Amino acid sequence: MKFKDIHSVLKTQILNGVYPVHLPSTRYLAGELGVSRTTVSLVFEQLAAEGYIELKQGARAKVAGEFSLKPDDKRGGVASIPSVDRLPRLSGMGEQLSQLSMDMKYRLEPVLYDFSYGDIAKANFPTRHWRQSLHAAMSSSPFTYDYQDPAGLAVLRNALQGYLWRARGVNCDPDQIIITSGTQQALDIVARLFLDRQRRVALEDPCYKMAKNLFAASMAELIHIPVDEQGLMVDHLDTIKADLVYVTPSHQFPLGGTLPIERRMKLIDWARQHGSLIIEDDYDGEYRYDMKPISPLFNFSDADNVMYISSVSKILAPVIRLGFMVVPKGLVDVARKAKALLDRQSGVFEQIALSHFISNGHYERHIRQSRKHFADIRRRLLSGLTDVLGNDIRISGSAAGLHIVVWFNRIPKRDEAGFVAYLRSHSVGIYPVSGLFTQHQTTDCAGFVMGYSSIHADLIHPGLIRLQALYRAFVEPSNR
Ligand SMILES: Cc1ncc(COP(=O)(O)O)c(C=O)c1O
Repeated sequence: MKFKDIHSVLKTQILNGVYPVHLPSTRYLAGELGVSRTTVSLVFEQLAAEGYIELKQGARAKVAGEFSLKPDDKRGGVASIPSVDRLPRLSGMGEQLSQLSMDMKYRLEPVLYDFSYGDIAKANFPTRHWRQSLHAAMSSSPFTYDYQDPAGLAVLRNALQGYLWRARGVNCDPDQIIITSGTQQALDIVARLFLDRQRRVALEDPCYKMAKNLFAASMAELIHIPVDEQGLMVDHLDTIKADLVYVTPSHQFPLGGTLPIERRMKLIDWARQHGSLIIEDDYDGEYRYDMKPISPLFNFSDADNVMYISSVSKILAPVIRLGFMVVPKGLVDVARKAKALLDRQSGVFEQIALSHFISNGHYERHIRQSRKHFADIRRRLLSGLTDVLGNDIRISGSAAGLHIVVWFNRIPKRDEAGFVAYLRSHSVGIYPVSGLFTQHQTTDCAGFVMGYSSIHADLIHPGLIRLQALYRAFVEPSNR
């Protein structure tokens, strides 16, 4: 490497926040890059002369104050977009991915009153018991540092088997459980096993976008089935043949319906008749408020045509990236092979910690506490919304889960994005629902998903007061 190349790379790295405080030493860099120490020192002097770093005799080179950024606080325009001309053509999946629109919520500027959905507040995390469980995982004696069973550790699969039976009535063999990196990897495994160019998958419309995008990337044909306040309109499947059907029957995402028993039975019959596999995503089935527990589809199926998937994302936190699939017995071997080829296995320390956490009763205790806590926040949100917006809104899907959908009767659908942007510019975050629909949005008014699992309880009231003022100004601009 030459002076010029080292200088250019270090300068870009400094601008991108790669070195929050200090640069590596000249000795270390010279050794790793295979150049003389003098070359690296000359580069450092040049960077100092240009104002990027500060040099002090006997101390490590320090990034100049102005450039000491947090690592993810990147500056725009520094890295040029690499040319793809000389790269091979994208695969079918690559082409699909390049066309997809993916919301990157974590790229948005934070707002004070954020009714985002999907995340769980840090304050709700059971830090003390999780720390103990991680500690136990690090000290557990039977554990070795070798590669382990790709389907997951037996201790965790046993603990989950017990939990699923106690909490959700799911009675399976621990061997049917495959530990995954969240629900997302379970969906990926399903897509790899069953979907291809000539295959068909039926989906709820509106649908969880991460599932829809994943199935779209698999090149399969997507068939969008409408949803009403009770969930998937199963009658619409009558004239349809599909290899898979993906459903969220406990709490339809995003509209919140719970699939009634007659529809469940009909769906299972349909799958049996057509040789289809039902993918049941029970992502937040633990949270229900004004209703009795309803048994997962998996429990109604004795014909091995339901795969049940879920994760700890809504109970502990999505950052843990542990989920699982309960697969029909005939699929255990192939699903285990798919998991092994995708990433060998999920993180072993986390797997042991989770098994410890479940076996010691912390998981179910935490669920009971969280259910109470979120029931209280939900009550405040629902009564607050009624107080501030009254008949101007209609709320769907509040009986279960961690989010609701709020329809604003006086805002037309075409103004949805404008309203979101206007609120965001005043530090209120709500999220449009229309992007989750594909073909079957029948409402003409704007709808928004409002989550209540990550906002602090004390921010709900002031957040709604601000929402009310902004709403009035939006529908009657003379108030602005
Ligand atoms: C419908 C649905 N399924 C699953 C998940 C969880 O995904 P993961 O387990 O990959 O974190 C979410 C998260 O918001 C969801 O909305």
